[in-house]
Amino acid sequence: MIIAANWKAYIESIDKVKELGSLYKKLSSHTEHEIILAPPSPFLALLANKNTSKLSFSSQDVSATLGGAKTGEVTAAAVCAAGAKYAIVGHSERRVIGEDNALISEKLQHALAQGLTPILCVGERERDDNGNYLAFLREEITSALSTLSSKDCAKVIIAYEPIWAIGKTAEESITADDLTEMVLYIRKTLADFISERNSAKAKILYGGSVEAGNVNSLEGCGINGFLIGHASVDVESFSNLVKAITPVK
Ligand code: PGA
Repeated sequence: MIIAANWKAYIESIDKVKELGSLYKKLSSHTEHEIILAPPSPFLALLANKNTSKLSFSSQDVSATLGGAKTGEVTAAAVCAAGAKYAIVGHSERRVIGEDNALISEKLQHALAQGLTPILCVGERERDDNGNYLAFLREEITSALSTLSSKDCAKVIIAYEPIWAIGKTAEESITADDLTEMVLYIRKTLADFISERNSAKAKILYGGSVEAGNVNSLEGCGINGFLIGHASVDVESFSNLVKAITPVK
């Protein structure tokens, strides 16, 4: 399983970075699961530099620009140089401040061009009885992938994160039945871009209020891992969560 931790902007001090950073490095050497850490960008190089543990790193975003006179932008090349192997793209907290599908598709291309593995976040704002949320999800995936070659599409990790489930508690998160259904739907959608065989193998993560209390019930829903927000920035919550996932046989 992939356990991707998105620290968002929760972490703002070097002391906290050091405390959590050493826990993550320790946990990654004691588990067969792959832990990917996405810290705020100023802390990326600090954590990734001279990293000898099994921990991998991701950026929380990449710029749609390619460098130059672009104040404040953090490009895919820069996060790569800082030690990231992955890049989260299209998180709902970026979409809500104006990132549209076209911009996200551009960001995906920049990440791929630098050899980063994109973690593309998709997910509906709300559910309705007519199934419009399925069409919404399909559109997010389709518009992000339609400009990529099928070889590049196959590299993209999809993080299914229904917005209504983000930042809540395990009890308010998605049910195992609903997640199973959504994962099947996402694989079916992916089969339009990559072969059916590859879509069965595509990596899909689930994110949205994953905690130690529900991680176990969701791990068997056809997913390849999790994208964790609030439970990733507390030593006890994150250790318990990692331990709650069934060990690799
Ligand atoms: P959450 O965040 O675990 O706090 O719900 C998940 C995410 O937004 O990636």
